[in-house]
Amino acid sequence: MAIFLDSSKIEEIKKYKAMGFVRGVTTNPTILLKEGVAGMAGVKARIIEIAKLLEPLPVSAEVTTNDSKRMMEEARDIASWAKNINVKITIHGPNGELDNLAVIHELETKENIRVNVTAMMSAQQCFLAAMAGATYVSIFAGRINNMGYDSVNEIRVLRSLLDGHKLKAQIIAASTREILNVVQWLQAGAHIVTVVPTLVDGMIVHPYSKETVKMFLDDAAKNR
Ligand code: E4P
Repeated sequence: MAIFLDSSKIEEIKKYKAMGFVRGVTTNPTILLKEGVAGMAGVKARIIEIAKLLEPLPVSAEVTTNDSKRMMEEARDIASWAKNINVKITIHGPNGELDNLAVIHELETKENIRVNVTAMMSAQQCFLAAMAGATYVSIFAGRINNMGYDSVNEIRVLRSLLDGHKLKAQIIAASTREILNVVQWLQAGAHIVTVVPTLVDGMIVHPYSKETVKMFLDDAAKNR
């Protein structure tokens, strides 16, 4: 799968999708708020627009509640917006409430709804989410680094656990902070890295490539 875009900006998604390397999109309530998408109706319209643009590639949209019953209802609703949408649910509530895994398990195993379990900071959290049936496990690797831990090691451990136990979950390494994160996390075993678009430009452009391209163009001009 490799590279997802961590964005809800339509123009940005169109631009990078046209380049051919985008395999999916992730959003969250903070990204949508920052990009000025207002209210549940606005969120729905934006996610449907992204899903159409990306079809059949996957798009993640997050529930906005931590109440089990409402999480189930929202998840069903979000999943009904388009076939290629998966539902993001945090590993637990803001105070460590433990209801979410049961919701995730039910959605995946009884309702055939694909879940992206999010806001995880360790291999052990992701492993349990994968055991519960998650399709995607999002490890916030940049935040792990910010806290002074080694995200590469967490991803390595996680991948070996998933493979060893033959779990279907795909690792999404998220919270990208540096250009180097992308190849580093993929090499550590992440199936996917979700990248903020500003970092993509830095992956593509190299000062020495610029100089080399300039040389080709200058010499071609001299030969005309
Ligand atoms: C992606 O799925 C995550 O929601 C996102 O990468 C989180 O990024 P942040 O840690 O910069 O908020």
